[in-house]
Amino acid sequence: MEKVFEEIKKRRKPNFSSCEKIVSFGREFSICSDNSGGVAGSIWNSAFEIISYLEERGFDPNVPILDLGSGTGVMLSLSAQARLCVLSDLPEAEPLIQHNIILNHVEARCCFAPLRWGWAGASACPITSYGPAGPCDLHELLPFALVIVSDCLYKSAAYSDLACTLAAVTRPGSEVIFAYSVRIQREHEFLDSLTREGSLPRFEVRLRRVHKDRFLVVLRRMS
Ligand SMILES: C[S@@+](CC[C@H](N)C(=O)[O-])C[C@H]1O[C@@H](n2cnc3c(N)ncnc32)[C@H](O)[C@@H]1O
Repeated sequence: MEKVFEEIKKRRKPNFSSCEKIVSFGREFSICSDNSGGVAGSIWNSAFEIISYLEERGFDPNVPILDLGSGTGVMLSLSAQARLCVLSDLPEAEPLIQHNIILNHVEARCCFAPLRWGWAGASACPITSYGPAGPCDLHELLPFALVIVSDCLYKSAAYSDLACTLAAVTRPGSEVIFAYSVRIQREHEFLDSLTREGSLPRFEVRLRRVHKDRFLVVLRRMS
């Protein structure tokens, strides 16, 4: 499987284009886009909602953060506060995320971990990571107390895989900070599946509309 990932990465020619300045916890970061990178190549608006929410509310800097579906790796900006940010996505997202990590000199606090939701569709949803050992060894860091998911509800076919991964990376008491823009009118189905009586694990959901069609959701794992 690692060979397949290497092939995908070789086929894609990154084209890092404009870089956006963003401020998080009082520090300025530069996040470059990749206009050949599809959905993973640019910053999505929900990311800013999550950063603002965490700036306002604060969080324990000693708690490692896992970001699912990192795209550009914009959540590396949380390293202004967090000791360790694990940025995860499909393997082909790695070049842009690594580029942004290096550009912002946050190698000591941020790392990329390839993580495909619902890996192999197995019901046990094993976490498979072939990233470098060290801070990005997901197996050593699991379970995470704080998980970020920004704008990852745009394809309903992935909902069960994403739910499976959320279950695999959290423990009872973990918090998941979610934000999404309504694009396919089915986003509520994902949240319903996490809160349904009898669902395992079950999450408590606090939902706040932050824009006409954008929501910030704080999930707490109950079981
Ligand atoms: C809309 S982008 C959001 C990127 C980033 N979170 C943001 O808010 O700027 C969705 C991200 O989810 C990733 N993604 C999609 N399907 C995935 C899967 N099955 N496993 C892991 N990541 C996936 C994409 O590669 C992309 O980076």
